[in-house]
Amino acid sequence: VSSTQDHDKHFLECLIDQFQSSNADPSNVVYNPNNASYASLLLAPNLRPESTSPLRPLLIVTPYYEHEIRAVIYCSKKLGTQMRVRSGGHDYEGLSYISGIPFVILDMRNFRSASINTKDKTAWVEVGMTLGQLYHTIARHSKTLAFTAGVCPTVGLGGHISGGGYGMMSRKHSIAADHIIDAKVMNADGHIVDRRSMGEDLFWAIRGGGGTSFGIVLAFKLQLVTIPETVTVFKVSRTSEQNATSLVHKWQYIADRIDQNILLRLFLRSITSPIHGNRTIHATFTTLYLGRAHDLLPIMQEKFPELGLVQEDCIEMSWIESALYFAGLRNESLDILLSRTPTGIFARNYLKGKSDYVRQPIPVTGLRGMWRFLHEEDEHMAELQFSPYGGALNDYSESETPFAHRAGFIFMIHYAVTWNSSGNSELERHMNWIRRFYSYMAPYVSKNPRAAYFNYRDLDLGTNNEGNTSYAQASVWGLKYFGNNFNRLVRVKTKVDPSNFFRNEQSIPPLSL
Ligand code: FDA
Repeated sequence: VSSTQDHDKHFLECLIDQFQSSNADPSNVVYNPNNASYASLLLAPNLRPESTSPLRPLLIVTPYYEHEIRAVIYCSKKLGTQMRVRSGGHDYEGLSYISGIPFVILDMRNFRSASINTKDKTAWVEVGMTLGQLYHTIARHSKTLAFTAGVCPTVGLGGHISGGGYGMMSRKHSIAADHIIDAKVMNADGHIVDRRSMGEDLFWAIRGGGGTSFGIVLAFKLQLVTIPETVTVFKVSRTSEQNATSLVHKWQYIADRIDQNILLRLFLRSITSPIHGNRTIHATFTTLYLGRAHDLLPIMQEKFPELGLVQEDCIEMSWIESALYFAGLRNESLDILLSRTPTGIFARNYLKGKSDYVRQPIPVTGLRGMWRFLHEEDEHMAELQFSPYGGALNDYSESETPFAHRAGFIFMIHYAVTWNSSGNSELERHMNWIRRFYSYMAPYVSKNPRAAYFNYRDLDLGTNNEGNTSYAQASVWGLKYFGNNFNRLVRVKTKVDPSNFFRNEQSIPPLSL
């Protein structure tokens, strides 16, 4: 304890020195465990990483200015203290706010300004903004501009956009990272570079390879997308008794091929049937159509008549209202998008997530086995999401950005289990369930490598050592997230951060170490 306290004291002294030399005031920027705001600043949506980690950050620093970030880098290097960068704190494994060795958190929440240019349809946005704040800001400026990114409004731009960013418009407009047209990044020397001065290699790396390994992303310039003033949404659920299995089976043959204005996402849960009293599968087809209902209905009737979609299922609204709808916040005011506190379906809980990619439709026998796993878990606590690919995602080659999951992938599976009580036996039970499920799925999903989505971070795939990590060790997880792009990411890392200052359990290692 005393050595941790010494470390804490030295770091604080170093920061105060650095702040004094730039006339900065640390009182609203630096928080130690004795500070009343420390605990609330530390809060993250997923309680699991914290519950298994013995260490708390020595300090949380919430800079307003670039020189304050530079001071954290300086002290972190000088004292050999690990630094974790956090924008929205939604990392599935908590890598932005936990560490096995003494560390400080650089929390970018105060970097949250945005400037929207409706003429050239671009936006400069700082990384501490959340998706909800970004969507709200764009909608205030225009009814026909939007950004293609994830569904949960409290996700931060820093981690999300640099790591990919899949959302309800991804079949029409691909992922968030594909729309980065410039960025400001602070490197390990405290210098700020933009697209021109960082060079195309680093600019390539931060468009899907995550920011973590390469520097601190301060801001992105984003290309916005054009949308119709009215869009259509629906959520239609079918149970096993209503042919859910054959609908899911059929869905696999159309979801990546249907008109790319349609994103037909599938959510699967096991729920007790009020009629039969047994557990039944609920397949909820959740859709955004970039157009009016009268145009959507004939397409659905032609391509997926088995679903039996009718006019009454469809709701027309603006794109920004659809952001509320998909976040499960339909009856709230738009201003709830400005809140950083996860609510409703995204409220704080213990969570473990994993991902897979499917190249060949899963046969009915395989689906039935999946249902058995869902029935095994506590009701409502386990969920599968099938997110369709195809469309604009295929407009990019596998190597154009580090995000390699392009043509040939029909859909991504997201496995999630949540629970709300602490304790090791609960943790073990749920972790064991999701890992068994994942191994059951091996014959049905992509192979060599078994692909995974970097933004659904999963330490089960492999981790680095705290010290030196070889290419071979990191490639165990790296090839799964990035395919062959992993090799280029290692080359970029070797060039821009050879001393491996920016690191965590799944950061890209430099070759020299
Ligand atoms: P956080 O701050 O935890 O950072 C994540 C990682 O990026 C960490 O390694 C961190 O160090 C690094 N990082 C953060 N800011 C950085 C910066 N400025 N510079 C350099 N490195 C930085 N994904 C998706 O594609 N679609 C979706 O719909 C959703 N929905 C969703 C819902 C919920 C409830 C959760 C918990 C997660 C998702 N995600 C998602 C996954 C999400 O995209 C992923 O967790 C992002 O990394 C979160 O970004 P944050 O900035 O919030 O995380």
